[in-house]
Amino acid sequence: MKISVLGMGYVGLSNAIMLSTKYDVICHDIDESKLESIEKRQSPIKDKLVSEFFKNKKLKLKTSIKINSEILESDFIIISTPTNFQTSTKMFDTSSIDIILRKLSKMKSTAIIIIKSTLPVGYTAQVNDRFKNLKIYFSPEFLREGRALYDNLFPSRIIIGNKDKYSLKFVTIIKSVVRKRNIKIVYMPSTEAESVKLFSNSYLAARVAFFNELDSYCLGNYLDPKSIIMGLSSDPRIGEGYNNPSFGFGGYCLPKDTKQLHSSFGQIPNALVKSLTLSNLQRKQFIVNDILKNKEKNIGIYMLAMKKDSDNFRESSIIDIIRLLKKNGRNVFIHEPLINNKKSIFGCPIINNFDLFIKKTKLIVTNRASKKLNKVSNKVYTRDIFGEN
Ligand SMILES: NC(=O)c1ccc[n+]([C@@H]2O[C@H](COP(=O)([O-])OP(=O)(O)OC[C@H]3O[C@@H](n4cnc5c(N)ncnc54)[C@H](O)[C@@H]3O)[C@@H](O)[C@H]2O)c1
Repeated sequence: MKISVLGMGYVGLSNAIMLSTKYDVICHDIDESKLESIEKRQSPIKDKLVSEFFKNKKLKLKTSIKINSEILESDFIIISTPTNFQTSTKMFDTSSIDIILRKLSKMKSTAIIIIKSTLPVGYTAQVNDRFKNLKIYFSPEFLREGRALYDNLFPSRIIIGNKDKYSLKFVTIIKSVVRKRNIKIVYMPSTEAESVKLFSNSYLAARVAFFNELDSYCLGNYLDPKSIIMGLSSDPRIGEGYNNPSFGFGGYCLPKDTKQLHSSFGQIPNALVKSLTLSNLQRKQFIVNDILKNKEKNIGIYMLAMKKDSDNFRESSIIDIIRLLKKNGRNVFIHEPLINNKKSIFGCPIINNFDLFIKKTKLIVTNRASKKLNKVSNKVYTRDIFGEN
């Protein structure tokens, strides 16, 4: 059994590692530095379990910068390349997948292709129609960054587009490497599977937006959001989790997937889905207005990452907060140890010396509270109520 994984980000790497505990896996990416670090068994992403597996497990992993014959003749090829939202077309940019499929078709690959990237609804059916010599399936990915390998080893569910001998075979392979017993497997047409992914992330975005609007309501009425949220969340139909206010929903997936879902609705009425992006934007503007009530000229931003243990700040809500604070004439200084090769970002100086950072700024804005800020808690602005992501 040979499996190739194309695109070594959070999705690709965690899947490749999990599969390579049992099967021969070839990792491909256009970014040579990622492949070099995989060869050295060093994780290119921050993920405790990935580092642990690299250190302690015998992984049957190798890399290739080219789509070579070994990849073409694999039993399975998993595609996990980016699908960013393009504002001009109001659609995901699927070009990284299009390029790969064109190549695989031209080079007559015999592999079963499983797309894990998040897709616009209908994409898999279209490419199966276009590339008749390929067998293409879609299986949405539900991992959380920072826990990518864990979420793959203990998946909430496995969904795969279309039930036939190939998808059944793929599921058997996944079942043989995951750690969770009795996993829920759901087969459905690929277009439905694509919809599941977009609706899942839009539901999560809606939930974040809802609790953020609750928090804005409390700010506007001088009410205590903690009591209100705890009161709501004790109803089992509402539940706890994903109820901690923030500056807005962000990260790589939620903002782009909600936009794509809205676009997929086309002419079908969708007041709720349509409003998610606006709600998020309004929340950030409202937070900025609240911050601006403090007349401090120099504002410190503690960390750019969305979540506490994240290793990137793609689409972080705080980026818009920074932009709006600057637009309102404030001097913004950033403390972000993830950035160690730059003196400034978004036109703001970076101060990674923590003592200097807290000395320079009398108001510190952070999306998520941190123990490190306890000693200066009197100058911290956050909407983090429960101290969790
Ligand atoms: N990050 C998440 O939490 C998450 C969760 C579920 C689904 N997804 C989806 O999975 C997909 C990948 O997300 P990610 O976070 O792993 O992305 P990423 O940006 O971390 O990694 C993508 C990788 O693909 C590589 N790449 C780009 N073009 C390529 C090409 N033509 N050939 C080979 N490699 C190429 C990049 O160099 C990069 O290493 C996206 O569609 C995303 O929406 C992401």
